[in-house]
Amino acid sequence: MALSNSEEKKPSYFEIDIRLFRDAVRDIDFDLYLKLSEDNYAHVFSRATGLDYQRLSQYIAKKVRVLYAREEDKKKVDSFLSRPANDIFYDPDATVGEKVASLLNMTEQNMTEIFSQMDVPKETIVSTKKVINNYVHLLAEQPKTLATIIKLASHGDYLYYHSISTAILSLFISKASGQFNRRTLEMIGMGGFLHDIGCTQLPEHILDTEEDLDPSDWQLMRQHPKLGLSMIEGTPNIPDEVRYMVYQHHEEPGGNGYPNGIRSPVIYFPAKIVAIADAFGALITKRPHRPAYSVSDALRIIESEKGKFDAELVKVLVSIFERKRNAA
Ligand SMILES: [Fe+2]
Repeated sequence: MALSNSEEKKPSYFEIDIRLFRDAVRDIDFDLYLKLSEDNYAHVFSRATGLDYQRLSQYIAKKVRVLYAREEDKKKVDSFLSRPANDIFYDPDATVGEKVASLLNMTEQNMTEIFSQMDVPKETIVSTKKVINNYVHLLAEQPKTLATIIKLASHGDYLYYHSISTAILSLFISKASGQFNRRTLEMIGMGGFLHDIGCTQLPEHILDTEEDLDPSDWQLMRQHPKLGLSMIEGTPNIPDEVRYMVYQHHEEPGGNGYPNGIRSPVIYFPAKIVAIADAFGALITKRPHRPAYSVSDALRIIESEKGKFDAELVKVLVSIFERKRNAA
């Protein structure tokens, strides 16, 4: 005989600190719930869809402290939480695929935190450093994998993708120019990640517009280095060099850049690296108002814009993609 609803055995749940999921890999093999009231749980993340960092961050921002899982999934939850993404990245037994997946998950979670807040909390910077460290590690160990990451990340939102690609391209350019130690590389990676953070303060239509910006929108757009700087100004743990990169990445050696129109010798060198990585990464990406340029066309455009980029860095960028260009 079937049991009536009231006689059915109710599932029991246990609670888990929501913050534990921030450092974890994304795929889950259990379901997670929010408790709405006694005996009333809402299903929020499922084994089919995995964790969604944007929603996770929203819950944390709304002061949700715990999530719930079913008692029968306890073992799965424990083993999931015992394997943070960062550990997988450095696990000698993990496959390259697992490492890339864990790094992308860490990056996605990290970028979501960066882009969903008005200011950048200290903890977010700590995890940004961890993520950048892993990129630098990958650059040394398996540089080819980074190209795969650029492709994979292109499925995310433009700002998220653009920030990853700028960070990675900045690292490539720095490394190819052969003059930076590991600490500087980590800083440049962070500058690449954060350079457009001020864009999160701009009205959405400016980033998504299918047409060229009108003069008033341009004026707003030109505010983003300053907006970015003020977002990270009070954040401890961000080195001054990163602030320079955020503030100066649209300055041009010829003096026609913004916000201050300063000239080559005064522009911080890593900010010039981020500038060229930013422009090149944007050109090879499809935008609402134009298709993506091929690598060779993007290089041609960068080369033709005299005074806009550091001439030595243009050569470095070209040398990185030379073979690809010759093949095109
Ligand atoms: Fe920018």
